[in-house]
Amino acid sequence: MSILVTGGAGYIGSHTCVELIHAGHDVVVLDNFSNSSLAAVDRTRALAGEDFSLYRCDIRDREGLRNIFQKESIDAVIHFAGLKSVGQSCSMPLEYYENNIGGSVTLFQVMAEFGCKKMVFSSSATVYGQANQAPFSEDMPVGGTTNPYGTTKLFIEKILQDAYAADKDWSVSLLRYFNPVGAHKSGRIGEDPNDIPNNLMPYVSQVAIGRLPYLNVYGDDYPTPDGTGVRDYIHVVDLALGHISAVERVLKQTGLEIFNLGTGKGHSVLEMVRAFEAASGVNVPYQITARRPGDVAVSFADCEKAAAVLGWKAERGLAEMCEDTWRWQKNNPDGYEAAGE
Ligand code: NAD
Ligand code: UD1
Repeated sequence: MSILVTGGAGYIGSHTCVELIHAGHDVVVLDNFSNSSLAAVDRTRALAGEDFSLYRCDIRDREGLRNIFQKESIDAVIHFAGLKSVGQSCSMPLEYYENNIGGSVTLFQVMAEFGCKKMVFSSSATVYGQANQAPFSEDMPVGGTTNPYGTTKLFIEKILQDAYAADKDWSVSLLRYFNPVGAHKSGRIGEDPNDIPNNLMPYVSQVAIGRLPYLNVYGDDYPTPDGTGVRDYIHVVDLALGHISAVERVLKQTGLEIFNLGTGKGHSVLEMVRAFEAASGVNVPYQITARRPGDVAVSFADCEKAAAVLGWKAERGLAEMCEDTWRWQKNNPDGYEAAGE
């Protein structure tokens, strides 16, 4: 009984593998390393205290996928593999559609071919678009995504819904993540952006370590208490644990369910800066700039469904998110690259 983790070398995938193994599951990792490194897999193995099979494979490679399903006994798939840069998706939309949607369809087809129809999928709060008002709940209408990346998440959700409508043997959990931040307590695995970070917390921590001079705060004229954008930041280990609950549920039943994974609490950009300064003891200079196109003012989750159905709740607070981000950043100022592993 193994769980195939696509994109298992990445930020959320690596943390999820550690927790899967600690929960007693066997893991097989597939990654094409387009946005990750072998060092992350080695460290994940060390933290998990167990070895696992690793395949350098692309989800668009049908034969490569078949080879994995032939060699391994896969009971369920947690599907993280995908490209995730909003800005890049606007400049190379076709690559995003091919990689994320094309790759996912190939993966689902190969799964069905091997009779494995249990899927936990990484979706995003971005599918709630701009028309809904927070707190976002799973029964709200989705759509109105503002970039091709977000649209790939919307389409893949729809594809899985159609697959389930046609074949009730599928068991699918669509997980809509809010804003994952933080790192493993050990400081050994964490988020390692390739380029200048797009997301707030990696940017803040790179300012704190001195790699970037200051933070640009995208707008202070939103209808929020301090005028800056409000988001639902969730510790990556809490998020990883949400996957354990979801995969254990899909293993037991068939059906298609959607869950928000967040904390249910919103924090502004300036609150995050202050929390990070308190956790690190380092000053984070910033300047206010124009709003970023496509941003919503306020995004946070209604988490009741995940609590009621999955029995899962995020437990780590803001201080822990910031402390763990800072430990990872301090111990690995240049990410995995400098590790020489
Ligand atoms: P990540 O880039 O760290 O991990 C994704 C992994 O997938 C990488 O290791 C990459 O090399 C691999 N990959 C990409 N394309 C592939 C392909 N064609 N074949 C095989 N491997 C491939 O990103 P992450 O932050 O860990 O995100 C994981 C998933 O969660 C993604 O699908 C992302 O869109 C989704 N998500 C992330 C966030 C976030 O803020 N991090 C929020 C919502 C949803
Ligand atoms: C962004 C993406 C979303 C994606 C998510 C996770 C956009 C419009 N949305 O969400 O599709 O699912 O990342 O990858 O890009 N901020 C700053 N300065 C910065 C960076 C961010 O002020 O340098 C602010 C933003 O305006 C926002 C908050 O910080 O108010 C969080 O931003 P970010 O971490 O990029 O996440 P989202 O905007 O929620």
